[in-house]
Amino acid sequence: MLIKSRAKWEERESAITPEKVYLNRRSFMSGAVGAASAIAAGGVLADAAVASTERTLKELQAKTTSFDPGEALTPFAAVTQYNNFYEFGTGKSDPAENAWRLQPKPWMVKVDGMVDRPGMYDFDDLIDMNALEQRIYRLRCVEAWSMVIPWIGIPLSNILRKIEPQSGAKYVAFETLADKKQMNGVKSFFNVLDWPYREGLRMDEAMNDLAFMAVGLYGAELPNQNGAPMRLVVPWKYGFKSIKSIVRISLTDKMPETSWNLSAPQEYGFYSNVNPEVDHPRWSQKQERRIGEFGRRETLMFNGYGDMVADLYAGMDLRKNF
Ligand code: MTE
Repeated sequence: MLIKSRAKWEERESAITPEKVYLNRRSFMSGAVGAASAIAAGGVLADAAVASTERTLKELQAKTTSFDPGEALTPFAAVTQYNNFYEFGTGKSDPAENAWRLQPKPWMVKVDGMVDRPGMYDFDDLIDMNALEQRIYRLRCVEAWSMVIPWIGIPLSNILRKIEPQSGAKYVAFETLADKKQMNGVKSFFNVLDWPYREGLRMDEAMNDLAFMAVGLYGAELPNQNGAPMRLVVPWKYGFKSIKSIVRISLTDKMPETSWNLSAPQEYGFYSNVNPEVDHPRWSQKQERRIGEFGRRETLMFNGYGDMVADLYAGMDLRKNF
């Protein structure tokens, strides 16, 4: 592992500004934030260019909430340089290097299917910037690493109410932008996934108070590599359900196709609830590596959010519905 003495994100003041802004507002648990732990998270971090983090990220005002697991936050550098966003490449540092091409403003979202208010919505029509909340959630990737991230956004249910789902709508489907000009991974010949990246939730999951549409993190707008300008955060499910840079929201009565399920149906189900009892066919899901920590921790059922979501799955066989 090669660690340069001075990583690019250490040199560039602008790259760490959101963390500084945030630190001024919140008193931290000791040792929660630091360059050393970001480097420990993986050698790739130190080498990552931070081009898209350098987009001037506007500070956001958000009300604090009780959504806070009380665990050390994952450092900003790791949250923004150790990413999965295959539209910009499959390596963990690829999104931070390549996502500067993404243009998150202006941003239009197509709303269609079983809704009473279909149409093309501007970002500001969907997101009420005066109602932003901060929520600190655990994020558990299916690859068995995890983070704790202070998101800013609004409950997904606010958006759904605005577009008025019809009574027959049973699922919400989401799509990511797929633009070869802005996304180097989309024009690549060796694609693991079919574009656009697609995800979906059952209606009651989407209306659950935990389901969140994030527009920022660490006190400022979302960096491109984290899914600017708006991405889903579904903390009781594996991270791949938290679809980034959303350009389409469709309401439907059929279970929507989802990208990872289409790519490897025996490995990735529609539900993809975090479940330490159901292993991935190629690795155990019992434990996870918290980025920035040494050793491993036990993975919690529904990523520790069972009290809010377990009843959504009452009576369901979660081995079959993985
Ligand atoms: N959304 C899109 N459009 N493309 C992706 O490749 N990766 C998913 C999810 N959303 C992905 C995506 C996966 S596997 C994870 S773990 C999370 O984004 C990672 O979010 P983060 O990079 O902000 O931590």
